[in-house]
Amino acid sequence: MKLPDSTLGIATGLLTVVLVVVAAVFNYFDDPAPVKYTSMAEDLKTLEGNFRQHNKSCFILGASGETGQELLRALLGRNIFSKITLIGRRRLTFEDKAYENLIQEVVDFEKLEDYAAAFQGHDVGYCCLGTTKAKVGTEGFIRVDHDYVLKSAELAKAGGCTQFHLESSRGADKNSNFLYLKVKGQVEAEIEALGFDRYAIYRPGVLLVDRQESRPVEWVARKFFGAFSAVFSTSMSIPIQAVAKAMASNTLLRPEQKTEILENTDITNLWKSAGK
Ligand SMILES: NC(=O)c1ccc[n+]([C@@H]2O[C@H](COP(=O)([O-])OP(=O)(O)OC[C@H]3O[C@@H](n4cnc5c(N)ncnc54)[C@H](OP(=O)(O)O)[C@@H]3O)[C@@H](O)[C@H]2O)c1
Ligand SMILES: *[C@@H]1O[C@H](CO)[C@@H](O)[C@H](O)[C@H]1NC(C)=O
Repeated sequence: MKLPDSTLGIATGLLTVVLVVVAAVFNYFDDPAPVKYTSMAEDLKTLEGNFRQHNKSCFILGASGETGQELLRALLGRNIFSKITLIGRRRLTFEDKAYENLIQEVVDFEKLEDYAAAFQGHDVGYCCLGTTKAKVGTEGFIRVDHDYVLKSAELAKAGGCTQFHLESSRGADKNSNFLYLKVKGQVEAEIEALGFDRYAIYRPGVLLVDRQESRPVEWVARKFFGAFSAVFSTSMSIPIQAVAKAMASNTLLRPEQKTEILENTDITNLWKSAGK
């Protein structure tokens, strides 16, 4: 039987209304009161200058990923580090001259202890590492998103790193019944216990990006939140550049904060006020 177009139209319309209401309810009840940022593009210029004078170094985990690539771009753009090291499972190639001074450490994440030297002597660490259960199964997911991330943080701390920035996820909660959110919450907490002088946790919602590999569920979520982002902008989804730029800007801000959690809304606000 073929449904008349008008019925389909109405069904689609209704579905949209339901989804919009659901999104609105989530949006309304979910995030705690967001941290307020005043316009700070000017202040950041000064902070950049000060930061630069200390000749600090950093490392990035996951620089080949969607967020990591943007983070690397943002950090090079701010030019606040005298040395940037990429730590990954494979060597990356870059065409642009801006990337020529990068240092790359290729490590075997299954034997990270053997690569402790790669984690030595960095002031700041960034982690955008992650995989999915769909790609590597439950055990593989825990191995990467928990074990590799935690071990890297431990080696970095032991190697003198004082500031750690972790890309986690919206809803991360060590007591969650959902494996993904539970693992994210656990690793957040275990890294906090390592006692970095400064530790920033970023909890983005659905990352809006034109991903190279195909992930159908994410694609649908992205189309949906992308379409409604004008209406329900700040708590469910976020452009990937926003996360990356917020991580870079936040490095310069509030050094007195020991542990800081930036929810999706906080990341968006920081991105907007710190200059896109
Ligand atoms: N996608 C979302 O909507 C969303 C939302 C909230 C939070 N997050 C979280 O945000 C983080 C970054 O996400 P993304 O989408 O930017 O990541 P992505 O594009 O999938 O990149 C993942 C990075 O992790 C590395 N990696 C993956 N498996 C590895 C393994 N077995 N050994 C070594 N390295 C491995 C990849 O290296 P290779 O290039 O060598 O594979 C890549 O650099 C993840 O932790 C994710 O869970 C994602
Ligand atoms: C940073 O490096 C510059 C140039 O190499 C040097 O002149 C300066 O003294 C260094 N500053 C610190 C704090 O080490």
